[in-house]
Amino acid sequence: MKRCMIAILFVATIAAAAIAAVSGRVVDGTNKGVADAMVCYTNIANRLIYVYTDANGYFNIPAPTEWSLNDLPMYKPVPITAIRTINLSNVSNSSLNARFNGEMVIFSARAESRKVSADLYDLSGKRIMRIFDKAVNGGSNYVFNPFVKNNKVVPQQVYVVRLSDGIDNISLRIINAGSARASTLLDAPNKVVSLQSSTELAKLAAVDGVRAGKTGYFGNTASINTYNDAVPNIVIKDANIEARVDSLMQLMNSDANGLAMKMGQMMQPAAPTSTPITTQFVGSYLKGEGSAGLMNAALTTKYKIPLIVGNDFVHGGRHVYFPHNVGLGCGNDSLLTELAYRIYSMCCLPLYNNENFAPCLDVHRDYRSGRVYESFGESPDLVSHLAKAAIRGIQGTDLTSGYTMMATIKHWAAAGAVDQGKTGNSGTCPNISASTAILSKIHFPGYLAAVKAGAAGVMTGYPAVHNVCMAINKEFIDTLKTNWGFDGFVITDWATSAGREGQSALAGNDLLMTIDPTEAAGVTQLKSIDINRINDAVKRLLRVKFRMGLFENPWPNLALNNYLASTDYRNVARACVRKSLVLLKNDTLNKTTNARVLPLSKTARVHVVVGTIGDNIGYQCGGWSSTGGTIPDNTNVLGGADEGWQGTGVAGAINGATTIWKGISTSCPTATKSADASGIPADAAVIVVVVGEPTYAEVNGDVTDITLNSLAGGNFAGPSAPKPPDQIALVQACKTAAGTRPVVTVLVTGRPNALGTIPANSNALVAAWLPGTEGNGVSDVLFSENSVDFAGKLSFTWPASNAQNPIHAGNLGDATGSGGTPLFPFGWGLTYK
Ligand code: BGC
Repeated sequence: MKRCMIAILFVATIAAAAIAAVSGRVVDGTNKGVADAMVCYTNIANRLIYVYTDANGYFNIPAPTEWSLNDLPMYKPVPITAIRTINLSNVSNSSLNARFNGEMVIFSARAESRKVSADLYDLSGKRIMRIFDKAVNGGSNYVFNPFVKNNKVVPQQVYVVRLSDGIDNISLRIINAGSARASTLLDAPNKVVSLQSSTELAKLAAVDGVRAGKTGYFGNTASINTYNDAVPNIVIKDANIEARVDSLMQLMNSDANGLAMKMGQMMQPAAPTSTPITTQFVGSYLKGEGSAGLMNAALTTKYKIPLIVGNDFVHGGRHVYFPHNVGLGCGNDSLLTELAYRIYSMCCLPLYNNENFAPCLDVHRDYRSGRVYESFGESPDLVSHLAKAAIRGIQGTDLTSGYTMMATIKHWAAAGAVDQGKTGNSGTCPNISASTAILSKIHFPGYLAAVKAGAAGVMTGYPAVHNVCMAINKEFIDTLKTNWGFDGFVITDWATSAGREGQSALAGNDLLMTIDPTEAAGVTQLKSIDINRINDAVKRLLRVKFRMGLFENPWPNLALNNYLASTDYRNVARACVRKSLVLLKNDTLNKTTNARVLPLSKTARVHVVVGTIGDNIGYQCGGWSSTGGTIPDNTNVLGGADEGWQGTGVAGAINGATTIWKGISTSCPTATKSADASGIPADAAVIVVVVGEPTYAEVNGDVTDITLNSLAGGNFAGPSAPKPPDQIALVQACKTAAGTRPVVTVLVTGRPNALGTIPANSNALVAAWLPGTEGNGVSDVLFSENSVDFAGKLSFTWPASNAQNPIHAGNLGDATGSGGTPLFPFGWGLTYK
């Protein structure tokens, strides 16, 4: 009988959990359902929860505890607590009174002595801890610090403190943001509480709601009372973008400064001062931190045209770095990829950056390139699948939402097809000789998928296609604009238009990256080109600015800064790491029991030879990662004070990051480590060795030989990236020292290298790629924490030798190396099952 009741209760809980959602419909001004609108909660604590409407405009947005991340092993559902149910009819005989003075919660209970408890919740309703629980005397004041319990300080975030004396409740929304702490009364039986609120807090404390929006419409909000409401139709009106673009163009056409204004729109200098904005109407800039001052300068110009500010948030930023695209490609999980890119947007936005130079959709087919890790994989299908996910992550379907920014896909056209894997730079454009048929079959589908998903920008790359540098390649820019109907803007890559500004713009580049507005020759060139081309470019730039809603609201939501390095972000990154790892080899240890080398046992004596890489966050993150800074921190950005373009290398220390060693030693506290094989203890049962590449970005990672050890031809000149010692020899030494004991090799690398004797010397072999800051994702899978298994499948064919490169699945007709059987084929990846 009892059992039966438990079963019924269990079923009832699941059923109740399944239906908690806010449902409704998004319609346009004519009451027609709007498909694919983005619906999200207005409360920023729920910023990772969003859905898209169906073909008829209907939506069902899950309650914060029930959304799809619950399906991931990292996420455990937490019951939602009703933090906003207060019976206001109690006003006259209320028994509690509370306020917050910036440090402490102060409260008094009325009348008789009573037990009072106080709990701290996060904004999803999850209880963090009980912070007060005592009998108190009526009429006296009591004080407690809501952020500290047993010396444990909660992270900087927004919380709700709820006091209860069994009769009344009081809820205060409290922000813990270092020195800028403040609170807002959420609900109280009496309204005598003194408030300390800021504008930002007032916004946060507003009744929750759902916002619906779609690019091209004015978004709208419906308020909700519970996470289980059906809301009336949400009407979003057409923003008439083309008409607004045209009318602004008309104003400029008849303005004495019109031509200068138009040219200003076409310039994206590196980190300008406000002078070129106000005097030359510069409409965009890149790198470094944005600032309110620069945007304000733009808003003082005659037509108040807001700025586009670009930067590279290609695998996260500001303390949390995700696996580079190569890892996401092996994970091939569109939900995780979308969430990852959404988090990149949310970290980037409060720096006044609103254009992300991402995702990279190059299909790399030759591993000599230093940009292989920026690529999801060698397969056009896989790249197309994740291209759409990444665009949805960065932009959603609503560029005005406050959580999204514009995506600039790169590097058009087909930079992954460049001959011999040469990367090029602003001064050199190595050639892509593959035929247009090959390019269309292999290299273009990913960009096309992204354009169809609404990508607002496209960056032309360094290489030349058919001997014409992309900076001036009209034919292939026309493919985008004419054949595919792309109506956003095209931007050049770093300095590729230098000295040929007019030619670059004439070819179809609309925005010139790193142009110097004070350099007269470039400006003169630009000025002299066909006015129709200038008008077309400016219309495209304005169209995107209107689509982003910048004319209505150019300001970022600075409250997003409170979520940097949050557990949510780390959990998604960690889930991405788990998914990205590829188990290449796993020997059977015992034929009778079928036991294999992995998963590692926590009771076995695990020893880790960390080498240069296994306990170094810089090598783990690779290029395009910045070091240092406290949390939250505004300088931790590419182009900022702690530039990390080439990767952080040994100098890298990223606050709160977990190295692979730290992850392993947390999972298995008895594990030991040494720098090399000489430190392997006699009683170690299993030896894990971590090897890999130095850090690099772009041309600095180009090599003529992809053997892990040789790195020949690569200059690997990253500022803080010394080349690790012979990695193949390190594994060999471990094997020799291990004798009959198993050796597990973990590869931290940006490309499938030729591995020499490493596979033969390894009883288990794991490709961890460049996992980023959450090294515990690696140990989770090595120890099969919570039964997690390997899930990654190779998105690149793994060659058996340097001579085999290039090597790829199927015969799609492009260049190949010496041929033969690869070490591991495309799609390879073992599991524990
Ligand atoms: C890279 C691009 C990057 C740009 C801006 C260039 O060197 O090729 O991928 O977006 O710099 O940082």
